[in-house]
Amino acid sequence: MKVSIVGSGYVGIVTGIGFAELNNEVIFIDIDKDKVEKINSAKPPLYEKGLEELMKKNRDKYVATSDYKRAIEYTDVTFICVGTPSKKDGSIDLKFIKSAAVEIGKALKDKGDFHVVVVKSTVVPGTTEDVIKPTIEEKSKKKSFEDFGLAVNPEFLREGNAIEDFFNPDRIVIGAKEEKSKKSLNELYSSFECPKFFTDIKTAEMIKYASNAFLATKISFANEIGNICKKLGIDAYDVFKGVGLDHRINPSFFRAGIGFGGSCFPKDVKALMAKAEEVGENPRLLKAVIEINEKQPLKLIELLKKHVSKLEGEKIGVLGLAFKPDTDDIRESRAIPIVETLIKEGAEIIAYDPKAMNNFAKIFPQLKYANSADEVIANSDAVLIVTEWEEFEKLNYKGKIVIDGRRVERAREAKIYEGVCW
Ligand code: UDX
Repeated sequence: MKVSIVGSGYVGIVTGIGFAELNNEVIFIDIDKDKVEKINSAKPPLYEKGLEELMKKNRDKYVATSDYKRAIEYTDVTFICVGTPSKKDGSIDLKFIKSAAVEIGKALKDKGDFHVVVVKSTVVPGTTEDVIKPTIEEKSKKKSFEDFGLAVNPEFLREGNAIEDFFNPDRIVIGAKEEKSKKSLNELYSSFECPKFFTDIKTAEMIKYASNAFLATKISFANEIGNICKKLGIDAYDVFKGVGLDHRINPSFFRAGIGFGGSCFPKDVKALMAKAEEVGENPRLLKAVIEINEKQPLKLIELLKKHVSKLEGEKIGVLGLAFKPDTDDIRESRAIPIVETLIKEGAEIIAYDPKAMNNFAKIFPQLKYANSADEVIANSDAVLIVTEWEEFEKLNYKGKIVIDGRRVERAREAKIYEGVCW
């Protein structure tokens, strides 16, 4: 099929290149000229494991442009993959969604053939039918579900594993109303053997939020139990090994530590909370999930102070700045509140991350950044492990004070070792 993708963030680029690998023709539409140029030179616009290779391999199957009209004219289906950031009050900011809908509407105005628009961006329930649909209708002067199709197909791609997740999904959720859209999406995903769940548009939007909110809840739950375990001298990882063996519970996403960051969980839980309040519901559990997550990174500092009572002037090493391994993304990284607290307390910080130092230095230019993890260990009195990069399992921690927020087994050899929840 011929597919266009609006927005070349990690969801858009991975989805598009994934469809190209499956022998579809893909056009990326992005207003950022720099991204367009990069994609057209087969260079990833961001770091994502395996992406560069896949872009090179499929070079003849995709192209990028800023021209909505030509891209939409040429393709059968357009995926909206733009970001949905949070506003200051936590509610969803639809500015990118709205401008994509305006441009798609304008481009559809002169198109004769039926075209399917698919919302892949995470949008609160009701957005597709109450915001995107009227905008496209107004600009295109066409009728949705008759002249053009509109569907929702949420993504469940983890950054750093996005390509693997694209090709091996647990399920594909499709929220659609009319047959032509269902047929197009069924065809596009025909080679996937996982369950395909067809539902209505609003339900598909909610499935994405309920999934992310549940996973975030699982993490905050693990952290709360983990904090109790720590006080009782129990290893939370052993506890969750035992708990996860119950098939009703499942072992994954119980990695207790310093909490969740990233571009999805914090923003999606807050957007769902804001929507709940808008409709007169008090999301008590979700509020607790966020509260636990905001306090959790500070546990690392609390434990550090058990061994280094005054941080002023102390050399503190920070290993890991990305919100999780295998990405350069620092959005909502737990490293941010940790570093802020260390700065406030007057510590001398030396930090290292294999991929995220450039991004981190944009907000914290005053830190000392090391060239390697070894350099951090050699030049600090105590070390905090904030992200579990694989290479941190190969370091020599002997003789050091190590406070581990992410369970790096090798660090247990340190002179003094503390795990947050174990
Ligand atoms: C998440 C969802 O997993 C994905 O389905 C969705 O579409 C986008 O958001 P992502 O944010 O890329 O993906 O990363 P994920 O691997 O889910 O981790 C999110 C955060 O939770 C990280 O900071 C990670 O360190 C933390 N985490 C994860 C834990 O603290 N414990 C766990 O057990 C799992």
